[in-house]
Amino acid sequence: MKEFLIAPSILAADFARLGEDTAKVLASGADVIHFDVMDNHYVPNLTVGSMVCQSLRNYGILAPIDVHLMVKPVDHLAIAFAKAGATSISFHPEATKDITCTLALIKNQGCKVGLVFNPNTDLSCLDNVNVMDKLDIILLMSVNPGFGGQSFIPATLDTLCQVRKLIDDGGYDIRLGVDGGINTANIYETAKAGADMFVAGSAIFKQPNYKTVIEMMRCELAKVFPPSVTDVNH
Ligand code: DX5
Ligand code: ZN
Repeated sequence: MKEFLIAPSILAADFARLGEDTAKVLASGADVIHFDVMDNHYVPNLTVGSMVCQSLRNYGILAPIDVHLMVKPVDHLAIAFAKAGATSISFHPEATKDITCTLALIKNQGCKVGLVFNPNTDLSCLDNVNVMDKLDIILLMSVNPGFGGQSFIPATLDTLCQVRKLIDDGGYDIRLGVDGGINTANIYETAKAGADMFVAGSAIFKQPNYKTVIEMMRCELAKVFPPSVTDVNH
């Protein structure tokens, strides 16, 4: 099992001070910046383009930026974000005409690549070894995409277990993320179900103290694999 990554979603950040707020959440213990891109076509909401990703890099953000493309079509925006400093780029399989082509295009840009599955999207494309072999990330939406502040969909836990088994049985080195409605009350059960990257927007950015809430999340995650007795004795 990989180390757990906490990935605050900038959708809930203060866009009037995005660089400062992003630096603050990283200084508070976050591992990855989750960058939600919405085009008001694939989802009924609009956020920001690759220039804002570039601005964060120019501001001095060095941490991984995990771009979540909720856009259709995908390819030209994926290239723009790769050029703007994205570390990983994940897209929804139904948003592209050719999944393996888009996966290869993103990898060829030097970025890690992921697929994002909505609660009702079937996972059949993961049966294709040509897809699984290319993936660095599988992100499961635990809300319907488009907005922050929604409630976690409990059925996601079963899907997490299913995909965790697929990854482990195949011996793949793929990060399994969960995205939407994640907070200190449910992060433990998502980790128990197999997630190892946790996207949280409002649960972090809407709190007065980012460090406190991230530490609470870490405490919850520490319960998933408590140190064994032998570890404690070392
Ligand atoms: C929703 C986005 C999520 C969202 C998470 O379409 O993909 O990343 O911003 O926000 P919370 O944690 O508030 O649900
Ligand atoms: Zn997202």
